[in-house]
Amino acid sequence: MLELNTENTRPFISSDRLGSIKSRVESAHGAVLGKTGAGSEFLGWRDLVLNPNDALLEDIIATATRIREDADVLVCVGIGGSYLGARAVIEALTPFFPTDHGPEILFAGHHLSGAYLKQLLEYLDGKSVYLNVISKSGTTLEPAIAFRVLRHWMAERFDDAGDRIIVTTDATRGKLNELRGAHGYRKYVIPDDVGGRFSVLTPVGLLPISAAGIDVRELFYGAAEAAKQLSSRVDNPALEYAAIRYLLHEDGFTTEVLAVFEPRLSAIASWWQQLFGESEGKEGNGLFPAAVQYTTDLHSLGQYMQDGRRNVIETFLIEKNPESGLNIPAVDGPEDGLEYLVGKPVSHVNRKAFEGTAQAHADGGVPNLTISIERASAAELGSLIYFFEHAVAVGGYLLDVNPFDQPGVEAYKSAMYQLLGK
Ligand code: PA5
Repeated sequence: MLELNTENTRPFISSDRLGSIKSRVESAHGAVLGKTGAGSEFLGWRDLVLNPNDALLEDIIATATRIREDADVLVCVGIGGSYLGARAVIEALTPFFPTDHGPEILFAGHHLSGAYLKQLLEYLDGKSVYLNVISKSGTTLEPAIAFRVLRHWMAERFDDAGDRIIVTTDATRGKLNELRGAHGYRKYVIPDDVGGRFSVLTPVGLLPISAAGIDVRELFYGAAEAAKQLSSRVDNPALEYAAIRYLLHEDGFTTEVLAVFEPRLSAIASWWQQLFGESEGKEGNGLFPAAVQYTTDLHSLGQYMQDGRRNVIETFLIEKNPESGLNIPAVDGPEDGLEYLVGKPVSHVNRKAFEGTAQAHADGGVPNLTISIERASAAELGSLIYFFEHAVAVGGYLLDVNPFDQPGVEAYKSAMYQLLGK
């Protein structure tokens, strides 16, 4: 199970204040467990890990195995909660550079770049392509356009295009169900009671993740284990995280930065950004969630973090025991000033960069917390996913908002549709 270190928040929050909201935190936690809070009809993300559906997991693995055997590329079409979770886990657990083991997983329909779609088709030419279109509503414009382009392209190239397209959508509603009915595509259902940003442990995330060669049983059961542990009222890091963020928000902090020190965890931070932004950012409430990658971004945002407006809190997501990679080599010739590091793993330098940053930023007035996992693995990421889901549900209730809706997302869509003459 992950660990939460809150030492660098102590100068900013007294234990009395933490104690003073204990009963509110417990009642928010109780509302999640007992399904008595706002939006409780969307707590299916909890039920599904508490009652694992092994037959569904096996079915997903069988489909993924077929894709792995037959495809050079799997294109996943979706946006927001319909792609961020899969991308997060895949990037965290697959090599940085392409290998020959299994299909390349590419994404489309997550923006409106025509240039991207054109170049994607050029890249796919001559390859064995499978496509997983993922949209709960089946009406979202970005994936709808990408799917139209890609299925048209596939129909012209593959006699068995219908067998290469898999639809992940609502049980009955939406255009994707109509298209699926007409073409006979294979289908996976997104449960009614699971919202997009909470859907990574449904077929939405599990099929692409499994097609990337990751053990989805481990991922899923990592989350299931965390769901049991984080049901507790005591020694519960999800409740502690929610409580501290809430108190700092009350004190006028407006922004939470989630900082990773391993590039492979960057997409987890982007998934977190959506989870917290869409769940808490309503009715004038919520910390603005910002995902950063250190040490890269210390060279662009480090000055602000150390010395800018003091409205920012920081959460570090760290591996305690990362893949060490290379050691710093001894070399002959003129010195480059790195002799004091010879023989040390680069991961050791990265660790010291984290420790130094946490200390310096706390000294500079940035309360910070550290979430440590042992090492990025399917089970650890499953646990982390559930941790954040539980924490944001509790956090939303502390803010007195419904953490499971996203009414604000509709405003830009209606303005855009009006301009497009829909
Ligand atoms: O979390 C959410 O609900 C959103 O981010 C959706 O996932 C996103 O808008 C895509 O919606 P859909 O799956 O209906 O295409």
